[in-house]
Amino acid sequence: MQLFLINFILIISTLFCFVRADAITDAIHIKGLASSTADTIFASLNGTAYLNTSDLVSQVTAAIQGADSLMMSNISSPGVANITFNEAYFNYVDSVLYLADTVQRRGRLFHSELNQPVYQALQSLSSAVSMYGHDLTSQNIIQRNSTIRTLTTGSAIVRAQSAWANNQNYPGKREALEWTS
Ligand SMILES: *[C@@H]1O[C@H](CO)[C@@H](O)[C@H](O)[C@H]1NC(C)=O
Ligand SMILES: *[C@@H]1O[C@H](CO)[C@@H](O)[C@H](O)[C@H]1NC(C)=O
Ligand SMILES: *[C@@H]1O[C@H](CO)[C@@H](O)[C@H](O)[C@H]1NC(C)=O
Ligand SMILES: *[C@@H]1O[C@H](CO)[C@@H](O)[C@H](O)[C@H]1NC(C)=O
Ligand SMILES: *[C@@H]1O[C@H](CO)[C@@H](O)[C@H](O)[C@H]1NC(C)=O
Repeated sequence: MQLFLINFILIISTLFCFVRADAITDAIHIKGLASSTADTIFASLNGTAYLNTSDLVSQVTAAIQGADSLMMSNISSPGVANITFNEAYFNYVDSVLYLADTVQRRGRLFHSELNQPVYQALQSLSSAVSMYGHDLTSQNIIQRNSTIRTLTTGSAIVRAQSAWANNQNYPGKREALEWTS
């Protein structure tokens, strides 16, 4: 019984260490996921590869929501904004910006995916990004000026949505390869 309790305490404290070890790791993880997702989508711009874009976007959303709820479950001690986290946050936000841009490009190309699921997946991504940014700011974990980056990415997601907003699924001709717009 005692052994059980000790194990239990060990497991719990390991979990707590994991949670603590930490918001930065989570932000780095999401950055990696968002970037590789964007790379996958970017590679598809060149051809007719089938992708489930809404599913890909939703996976990034889920990672952000997971990091957010982990972080919010540990608000007992006030955060202290520091450069390390701010940088990790900027990198994460930039990777989501890159993701939004590639999803927008894919939306402008002829695609056989339905628009609606992608539009909705982007809506959820937008909510998750702003919620995570809001929560980190309110906990003083990131510096206030990070809000601007969050808003820039939010606008990019709105632009991406506009590329998937048509009622018809096939938005006309292929985008010029030099992606002038
Ligand atoms: C929350 O963070 C504090 C320090 O910031 C740490 O001591 C504590 O173990 C953490 N708790 C959890 C559940 O992560
Ligand atoms: C596009 O496809 C061509 C030929 O398959 C390949 O050489 C080129 O690297 C591709 N470009 C991108 C951006 O994937
Ligand atoms: C995309 O993935 C989601 C979740 O895995 C699935 O529900 C949906 O049917 C898929 N869409 C297509 C067109 O395969
Ligand atoms: C910044 O804060 C994180 C999380 O509280 C901590 O792990 C890290 O060591 C801090 N970095 C600096 C440079 O203070
Ligand atoms: C944000 O503000 C901090 C000081 O509060 C400053 O050190 C940092 O360079 C600023 N970052 C940006 C991107 O303006």
